[in-house]
This record gives sequence, structure tokens and C-alpha cells, in this order.
Amino acid sequence: MIDLAVRGVRLTGEPDGALSDLLVDQGRFVAVVPAAAGSPAAAGGDGDDQAPQARTVIDARGAFASPPYVEPHVHLDATLTAGEPRWNVSGTLWEGIACWADRKATLSRADVIDRATEVLRWQVANGVLHVRSHVDVTDPGLVALDALLEVRDRVKDVVNLQLVAFPQEGICSFPGGDRLVEEAAVRGVDVIGAIPHFEDTREDGVRSLEIAVEIAVRHGLMLDAHCDEIDDEQSRFAEVLATLASRSGLRARATASHTTAMGSYNAAYALKLERILARSGVNLVCNPLVNLHLQGRLDDYPKRRGLTRVKETLAAGINVAFGHDDIMDPWYPLGTGNPVQVAFVGAHATQLTSPGEVAECFAMVTDRAAAVLGLGDEYGIAAGRPASFVLLPASGPFDVVRRQVRPSHVVAHGHLVASTPPSVTTLRWPGRPAEPVDFVRRR
Ligand code: FE2
Repeated sequence: MIDLAVRGVRLTGEPDGALSDLLVDQGRFVAVVPAAAGSPAAAGGDGDDQAPQARTVIDARGAFASPPYVEPHVHLDATLTAGEPRWNVSGTLWEGIACWADRKATLSRADVIDRATEVLRWQVANGVLHVRSHVDVTDPGLVALDALLEVRDRVKDVVNLQLVAFPQEGICSFPGGDRLVEEAAVRGVDVIGAIPHFEDTREDGVRSLEIAVEIAVRHGLMLDAHCDEIDDEQSRFAEVLATLASRSGLRARATASHTTAMGSYNAAYALKLERILARSGVNLVCNPLVNLHLQGRLDDYPKRRGLTRVKETLAAGINVAFGHDDIMDPWYPLGTGNPVQVAFVGAHATQLTSPGEVAECFAMVTDRAAAVLGLGDEYGIAAGRPASFVLLPASGPFDVVRRQVRPSHVVAHGHLVASTPPSVTTLRWPGRPAEPVDFVRRR
């Protein structure tokens, strides 16, 4: 008797039409077998006598089974504060930071826990079971950090939350910034952050990365810096981060987030940088929703898209993931924490729209984002791995992105944590009987 059997799923990499069964016990996959090998029966049911019995059976009806969505970049401490104490009227990163500085002065532990937990609930409902959240540590009281450390513990049975010590107002430019990042490491963050383009001088920016890398290495932590999130083509900290990641040995445990200035670099420099990034093994995280919104605000027409070079860096062998970044906060007023929206907008914004490229956009919110978080064998649908996955009533990744398909089932460590019944639209076309429309192209 096993805990759970999921009958008849499609998996990526399987031949068209091939279905599999997922067998789960004690929170882990025990086997992934061809559906034809015998369908597991519900306990007390009348299924195949040769099949293992399961306490719970889900009939997937040919749904596409995917490892869960991974959110590689969000700010849960600031989430749901849009308009508090005022709206970001200019829509720039800089006014957002100023609005947040005012809101930060009113933070309480309960306030942060309440908002962060609400958004985590939305994310899980969307099928996200791994989240990397930055948390602003340029606060001598470290109120948000302590609150999110508590949230990380409270939600751990459902969602794996990584916390980044993020010095929003700088490591060198904020008084005692380096000591606050160090203290965050001591208190138990998973990742060290930085924001070199915000530091007062180029030299401070370089020094801030050196400090962040030194703290990360000394505490055995990963690194994820907001890096070159500016339309200034002279902002060139990604080369510093990649070089430090190589020399320190951090390599793929280091990530450069945003890198929007890369969208403004000249071709000769971009080519040089791609070589340095690829050699270092660092990851990039592009946040299409938020950077389409924030960047280019000071441009006349033509306006820049303000995104990093995704197509080119993928082609250079660099791991790139898509993140949501902000959700209803001073930097972005919209959002429900849904990675499929991110993949959809990202496909357009980066012109990754061939069938294979759209599937790659799906990978950027699943497998590629999992690599950013360093999940390794703790992620994926295979025997021995945690039984965390989503069922998507779709033919595969391209179909999920095109139709913005919601997961019908979200399973965390073998437990169903969210379900969404299919919505049905009935079309009453003149001269025809009423009929359901699901936007599937049938030939
Ligand atoms: Fe961010």
C-alpha cells in the first residue's frame, strides 16, 4: 500500500501519446512507470490486481505533469505595499526605493509575516513550491529579516523558501551596511545579496561585491546580487560579479539578477561579457514584468525594452531564469505571483517565440530556475526525489504558456495542496448548438 498514485500523466521527453503513472509514498516518488504496466488501484477499489494499492488515486486524464514552478526572484518583505504611504508616480526604480524607505520605517513583524504569507499562499495556488525571496537588510532593526526567517520555518512543509540578505540601500553607501549583511548571515539567510549599481561610486560598487562574496564564502552561502538594474550602458558590474564568482569558486552558486544594462551595451562589449559570464558559470535572472515596467522611463522614443539579453546569453550556454520580482509594491503595482504570466510576457519581451523557444520560457520558470536555487536532486519527477509536482491540463510546455493554463493539482511532498477545477466557456454561435470552447487547436 502506497500513499498516492497519479494515473495517466504526460511527461516531457516521452513519445507523443505515451502516458505514465507516478507512484508516491512517504512524500517521495517511489516509481515512475508506463501507464500500461498496470494502473494502481484505490484502496478497496477494483483496479488491476497486479498493481500496487494506493490510499489516494488521482486520475490525471492525460494531463501534463511538471515539476513545480520555481520563483527565483521576489521581494516578500515589500509585497502588497503598493500605494503605502504613496504611489510611485514616476514609475522609476529610484522613486520606488524612496517610497519603500518611507514604508520601511513603519514595518512590524506581524505586518511582514501577514503580507508575505498571503503572497506565498497565492504562489502555492499557482503551483510554485520553491521561492527565493530577497529581504531588505538595510534596517538596523532587521525587522523584515526576522519576520521572514519565521515565515520560512512556518511554511517549510509546503514551500521551500530561500532568503537573500539584500542591502537595498547599499553595502558601502548605507551606514553599517556591511555589518548588517554579516548579521543576516549569522541569523540564517541562505544567500548573500548586493546592489552595486546603487552604490555611490563605481569603486563602492566593486567593493560591495567583494564584501558580499567574502561573506558568502565565509558562511558557505550562495550569492545573488541585483546587478546593473539601470538603463546606464556604463553600469558594468556583471563582469565584476562573474570574475569574483570564478576566483572565489562560487561559480554556479552565484547569480546576477536583472542585468538590464546589458540591453544597452554595444555589441563588442556584450560579446566580451558573454564570454566572461559563460566561463564563470554564474546564473542570470531576468524579470520581464517588472523591468518592462520600470526601465526606459527616462527615454524619449524609441524606448528601450530595458531587459537583459536572454536569447544571446542562453545561446552562449549561460543558465537564465525568469522571475516575477515585485508583486503589488512600490516597484510594480500588479501581479498575482503566477509564473506562467512571467513566461508569457517574457517570451514576447525577449522574442523567444518559436515553439522550442516558448518551451524554453517554461523551463525558465521551472528547471532553469531550480538550477538558480541549487535544488539539484531535490527537484524533478524521478524515483527518490520529493513528490512535489503540478498537473497541467495541457499537451506540454508550449500549450501551457500559450493558453495560460492553470494547474489542476498542486502536490507538495505527496500532499495535494491546491486544486483548480477546469473553467468552461460555452459559446452560443448563431446557427450552432451551444458548445464548450477551450482554445485547443484540433485538426
Ligand atoms: Fe529585485
